[in-house]
Amino acid sequence: MYLTKKEEKILDGESGEIKAKAMRILVTLGDIFNADKLIKIDSTQIAGVSYKTIGDAGLDFLEDWAKENVQVVVESWMNPAGMDLDEWNKLGFPADFAKKQVRIIKALTSMGIKQSCTCTPYHNGLIPNMGSHIAWSESSAVIFANSVLGAMTNREGGPSALSAALIGKTPNYGLHLDENRVGQIQFNINIELTNFDFTLLGYHIGELSNNKIPVITGVNEASWAQLKALGAGAAASGGVAMFIIPNITQESRIIDNPEVFEVSREDLIKIQEKLTIGSEPEIIAFGCPHCSLEEINEIIQNIKTEKKVWIFTSKQIKNKFQNLPHNISIFADTCMVVAPLEEMGIGCLATDSSKAAHYTQNLSKIKSILKSREDLLSGN
Ligand code: F3S
Repeated sequence: MYLTKKEEKILDGESGEIKAKAMRILVTLGDIFNADKLIKIDSTQIAGVSYKTIGDAGLDFLEDWAKENVQVVVESWMNPAGMDLDEWNKLGFPADFAKKQVRIIKALTSMGIKQSCTCTPYHNGLIPNMGSHIAWSESSAVIFANSVLGAMTNREGGPSALSAALIGKTPNYGLHLDENRVGQIQFNINIELTNFDFTLLGYHIGELSNNKIPVITGVNEASWAQLKALGAGAAASGGVAMFIIPNITQESRIIDNPEVFEVSREDLIKIQEKLTIGSEPEIIAFGCPHCSLEEINEIIQNIKTEKKVWIFTSKQIKNKFQNLPHNISIFADTCMVVAPLEEMGIGCLATDSSKAAHYTQNLSKIKSILKSREDLLSGN
């Protein structure tokens, strides 16, 4: 990969050991994927923030990188952490966990990364421009940015997004290149979609697409909430980083003669059945990906169940709600997947998110029941 004189100097250590390490990560990635050069980015979104997912090795890594006082050079936001950073004690998070989590946040903020702790930065003001290059790493944020916002990002890992944040650049390959932003596999939707169907459809499409770009036909309108649910599902069951819905997403090119799948009601029912293991949830969990302000208002207006409802969102949005119904708690900075729910006594949860059901079962070993938001709120 071609490097400018300035980039070569950083690689040689003239800006310190940590920036050299960051540059080495970017150059290695660029060489693996045949990038021609590094390109400037506008923002990063950095995953690998929860102590639950990165453990002591990740904590050591971040404290090592923070020790040289390096600073990010572009707008950089954090993905959710493992707990509500203000109310962890009141909400029952374990104290040992909290100590390590606080050290991770301290290391990241000392490098200039915003303590945003959300996977939906676009609900909180970080909305990249159409056609701009970014380096985001949480998979649902990546697929939303590429598809709905028309920004250009690969699915970065935590270390590569952090490296991009410190250098302000990323290798020019994959979805940074126009010619790769083309649909490769087609799904025809032959049914009317409900709100809940979008998360099921995303998961179904992700399983069949793997890391191809799916094109979805037969969908005439979709809200941000629905597209968010669809993308999160597809990115959880497959390696999908972008989807196309003609007349809805920003781009809509497709290769000649793609493989075509017809999607039926039975396909979606099968996903719901597959992701439902368990019968007696201790909590109902909403907010994977994080809820918007409008979604939380809707939940509050429509709640009829007496079960405990936990909503996950950003602090910025949580702070807008006071006087909640007695059985609703709002958690900021974290989510049902990256928080240590198993250590907090949760053995089974109910959710409306295929991604949450997938990861609570596979990562946390918590049983989950997948149902529509309407059914969960009405106690069905
Ligand atoms: Fe976001 Fe956590 Fe789901 S990071 S997409 S709420 S797994």
